[in-house]
Amino acid sequence: MLSVQESIAEDPSTHATTLDLQEIQATVLRPRPAPYFGTHVLLRVDDAHAGREFLRRLSPHIASSAQWWDAVHTWLAVGISYPGLEALGLARESLQSFPEAFRMGMAARAQQLGDVGVNDPTHWEKPYGTGQVHIAVQAISDSEEKRRRALAIAREQYEGFSGVTVLALQDFGAQPGDLNSLGYKDGIDQPAIEGSGVQPLPGQGHPIKAGEFILGYPGEAGTLLPMPEPDILGRNGTFIGYRKYQSRVGAFNRFLRDHGSTEEERELLAAKLVGRWRSGAPLTLAPEVDNPALGADPQRNNAFDYANDQQGRQVPLGAHIRRMNPRDTNLQRLTDVNLHRLIRRGATYGLPYDPTAVSDEYDDVPHGAIFLFISAKAMATIEFLQREWIDDGDFIGVGNERDPIIGRQEEGATFTIPKEPVRRRIHGIQTFNVLRGGEYFFLPSISALKWLANLGG
Ligand code: HEM
Repeated sequence: MLSVQESIAEDPSTHATTLDLQEIQATVLRPRPAPYFGTHVLLRVDDAHAGREFLRRLSPHIASSAQWWDAVHTWLAVGISYPGLEALGLARESLQSFPEAFRMGMAARAQQLGDVGVNDPTHWEKPYGTGQVHIAVQAISDSEEKRRRALAIAREQYEGFSGVTVLALQDFGAQPGDLNSLGYKDGIDQPAIEGSGVQPLPGQGHPIKAGEFILGYPGEAGTLLPMPEPDILGRNGTFIGYRKYQSRVGAFNRFLRDHGSTEEERELLAAKLVGRWRSGAPLTLAPEVDNPALGADPQRNNAFDYANDQQGRQVPLGAHIRRMNPRDTNLQRLTDVNLHRLIRRGATYGLPYDPTAVSDEYDDVPHGAIFLFISAKAMATIEFLQREWIDDGDFIGVGNERDPIIGRQEEGATFTIPKEPVRRRIHGIQTFNVLRGGEYFFLPSISALKWLANLGG
């Protein structure tokens, strides 16, 4: 069976690119390896000169997106937060040219994001949200041994001189079967990007204009999105929203057990919450029983729309993937769905999903998912998704119901499963994934990294 990456690489006729792939960091376009092993190193810059020297040393090791469709298995990426750009000594006019939400940081945007209650930044793990995370380096590979080697290369660049401090190391890695923290196959659908060099897979939809994801290219409206200045700094860069969730696996399993008396009923309910079976098979194409071969086939596992299911009898209107990408669902509010797409790089951390875990204590075991959401307007898109599509239901006519997987739920929250003759309204939805931290990063181009390293001469 081919991975998405291999299936893309098969057809050399598709590689007509208009993007400057040599400049764009690999993490933007390259899917994570399978399996994957990785670490995020979170660093603080205490001295501008030392910070720039670190970037100067690191930049030759940062991978670009050149030939991104070829299966490359190990690379390093680097993102810089707004306090990080300040700490590196970026000029005021340049700092001011960044979007306001980025300048404020994810924690300060908690109200706009609905990150309140259990998700409030006051409950986050340190150092997230403290303003001290200046630089994040990602080391990723398809083997533990190569991850260690990649990490050692990163470490060589910051160790041995003062002025750059490691705040935390966040490991992540694939679980058996490449399942996510609630036991589902994930990372199936990504937006296709115009000019990136590959044709969309069946069902990916028409390629979206590159400017939605990478700065310096026209977006869906045909114009350039605002770009940080000067040009060398902004062009071919992008933004990342980093969000770390802890999955309450015990609560999730208890919920399934309380509402399904057989294994089949529980698995169908799990599929209704997401819109895909745990195998990845879309409910639209496999409405009654799971079809793991379909779930594993990149040529088929995305080839669907909701044209024949506008009532949500197959995929409930409030299911996670239908909210996050309504495709052709008739929305209550006129919305251009293609303006709200994100490149998703999800990864799991901690113990693998345990379908038998049902205790309260198990909810406190630190395991979950870390998402990198990549877009030229990541801050605005994440705020829109959180407010309109995750923590509300009006856009699909389900009132104040929230996303059953990632919504922050109030006592008595429900999930509606349309059905003949009467719909089923399920009670007892809880906050199954709790936000444990988050940051916004700017992901500079390869040239911008060198330019930043040389600030101040
Ligand atoms: C731990 C938390 C989460 C879990 C367990 C989860 C689970 C899943 C699963 C199982 C899928 C289906 C696989 C696929 O289509 O690729 C999916 C898709 C998706 N998720 Fe999540 N997710 C989580 C968090 C998030 C967050 C925070 C966002 C956005 C703010 C998000 C946005 C999406 C999107 C855009 C898709 C693809 C939908 C499509 O194109 O059809 N997810 N997620």
